[in-house]
Amino acid sequence: MSLTPTLIRWLQSEKGRRWLAPLSAAPQNDAELLPTLTRLRRELSPAQAAAVVETARLRQRAARKFPAAAARMFFTRTSLQQASAADVATHTAKRFIPFRQVLDLGCGLGGDSLALACAGVQTIAVDHDPLALALVAANARTLDYPRRIAVLRADVRHPAWRAPAAWADPGRRTDGRRLFDPEQLRPPLSALLAQRWSYAGNLGVKLMPGLAHDAIPPDAEAEWISLNGELKEAVLWFGELLREPVRRATILPAGVDLIATDARADVRTPGRYLYEPDPAVIRAGAVADLALSLGLWQIDPTIAYLAADDLIPTPFARSWRVLEHHPFELKALNRRLRALQGRVVAVKKRGSPVDPEAFRRRLYRHPRGRPLIVVLTRVAGKPWMLICDAVVDGE
Ligand SMILES: C[S@@+](CC[C@H](N)C(=O)[O-])C[C@H]1O[C@@H](n2cnc3c(N)ncnc32)[C@H](O)[C@@H]1O
Repeated sequence: MSLTPTLIRWLQSEKGRRWLAPLSAAPQNDAELLPTLTRLRRELSPAQAAAVVETARLRQRAARKFPAAAARMFFTRTSLQQASAADVATHTAKRFIPFRQVLDLGCGLGGDSLALACAGVQTIAVDHDPLALALVAANARTLDYPRRIAVLRADVRHPAWRAPAAWADPGRRTDGRRLFDPEQLRPPLSALLAQRWSYAGNLGVKLMPGLAHDAIPPDAEAEWISLNGELKEAVLWFGELLREPVRRATILPAGVDLIATDARADVRTPGRYLYEPDPAVIRAGAVADLALSLGLWQIDPTIAYLAADDLIPTPFARSWRVLEHHPFELKALNRRLRALQGRVVAVKKRGSPVDPEAFRRRLYRHPRGRPLIVVLTRVAGKPWMLICDAVVDGE
């Protein structure tokens, strides 16, 4: 169905709210929905009925991104897909607190505008899409920020404004496909950088997490942000928004960060524990920095696994107890799994060409066996396998 600004206005009316509230609260499957839909169709126009059902569904789907507010917000499928998760937007919004006003360039449904408003920053939400502006206005109203968010319809490639600072989140998809080149973004990174001086040079740009290090301008800070172990985005910071011109890994919800340097860590054979750095640490190029800060070592100079003989709880990495490790060989692995009465629950790999799931199906499996993780990687350049306890100590 296609939501329109008129339908979004109607959904906020007393009648729209009355239909939406019960449907948004209770998750329903298609069979349960049928009688409700029939009732909706009797009393509402087909477009209104579809708008109620779709919004209720999207509210439930949005609960992961907007845990506190999804049940009151307005979405389209695409704008929800593109929206910044509330925890990440809250983190990036903090850098704007010293500014009295911020432009949110390409605001979509307002994931970032709402976080900026919540941080107390006066926000101007800009988009060329009237539907996006209707959504952000509705979301500002429903979350009680109508006076902190103004909306402006404009093409951000041709700024006709000046502001003390700006945030930009260019579109990263076209026809449902993800884009990997900053110059293919909507609008492209270079178009945003060319207008930095309209914002006194104070600009933050959200980009794809796969951002290459050689695409980072020399006067920028690059921050890779993960949430619950999932890499979400890279951000380039300029001007007074930049804290240091470095590559930084930020881990949420812990709210800790690590700066990448050209450090080198020791390289040795695996120890009693294997550490897998958070993807933000890996992308920022801070694996050796993490090793040095915790007294860990690398098991191969080219592989992002770390090792230690102790269990060191850290938000920057996951860890597993290593039961044994050997040069890679399938027959030997199955022999050892049988001896351990094991049941491999996951195959992890770095620097190995195997398909983990297909490989797992070729492994010995005791039906009620001890849950194990097999790690396929390289040690000192050679293919290697580690058998680890799937149960993390202390969990
Ligand atoms: C990734 S979405 C923004 C999501 C938003 N940050 C959020 O958290 O909800 C990008 C938005 O940029 C808008 N956009 C793309 N090119 C634009 C342009 N040239 N001028 C204005 N808006 C543009 C799109 O309409 C879309 O709403």
